[in-house]
Amino acid sequence: MTLIDSMNARRSIRRYTAEPVADGQLARLLETAARGSTCGNMQLYSVVKTTSPEGKRALAPLHMGQPMVEGAPLLLTFCVDYRRFTLWCEQRRATPGYDNLLSFLNAAIDTMILTERFATAAEAEGLGICYLGTTLYSAGQIIEQLRLPRLVFPLTTLSVGHPGEQPPQCERLTVDSFLHEEHYHDYAPADIDRCYLPKEALPENRHFVDINHKETLAQVFTDLRYTRADCEAISAGLLAQLRRQGFLPRE
Ligand SMILES: Cc1cc2nc3c(=O)[nH]c(=O)nc-3n(C[C@H](O)[C@H](O)[C@H](O)COP(=O)(O)O)c2cc1C
Repeated sequence: MTLIDSMNARRSIRRYTAEPVADGQLARLLETAARGSTCGNMQLYSVVKTTSPEGKRALAPLHMGQPMVEGAPLLLTFCVDYRRFTLWCEQRRATPGYDNLLSFLNAAIDTMILTERFATAAEAEGLGICYLGTTLYSAGQIIEQLRLPRLVFPLTTLSVGHPGEQPPQCERLTVDSFLHEEHYHDYAPADIDRCYLPKEALPENRHFVDINHKETLAQVFTDLRYTRADCEAISAGLLAQLRRQGFLPRE
């Protein structure tokens, strides 16, 4: 299978066999991931590896009890890290200025590139992964649990292991739904229909609407999965944690 075939065939894996991920394989995959582009070649990231039952047990509630946390042999928390670089500067008579939003965003891009390259490489070697977006929901508690110091911030987590399931692939929007020629072409109602009607027509999505007693698929998102109240509360928490870790000025 080529790399492109593997990228096209992928799906998130949420159940794993008990087989551990070998340390050598993990190191190799991280080395490949780190070959990706990185802002100024600064490599503004760190990865915290969790394999111990105690470590996973402590993280499980912070990830809303998602079963992959204790069910996967390996959890990797990918963290924005401007600390290592800042300490190096200070140790070499250079004056760093990276406690700000721009630096956080540059480091977040670096960290996401590392994460997704790791995921792609792991999947190409037959491992399964799932992102845990709950890392941002519980950033404050994860900072404490993983003892992340100033200028380090947990961005996302991957559960990793040998696949114990082969779920069907999810649908995607067609490329013309998100590709804009020369400038952004705003979406008229008919364009929105063209983008989303195929997704809405899928039996699994219709079933999803029915079991949630909603009128439309969009309402499942707005009223249940990603509500305004949750988004606003989590955003407020994130701003507080970004201040605490030194990326935003204290109020
Ligand atoms: C930022 C982000 C956060 C995610 N968080 C979760 C999560 O907390 N739990 C989960 O089961 N899947 C999570 N996922 C996986 C998505 O649900 C999944 O990629 C999407 O439904 C498409 O499915 P596929 O990856 O199988 O194609 C996340 C993915 C991303 C990119």
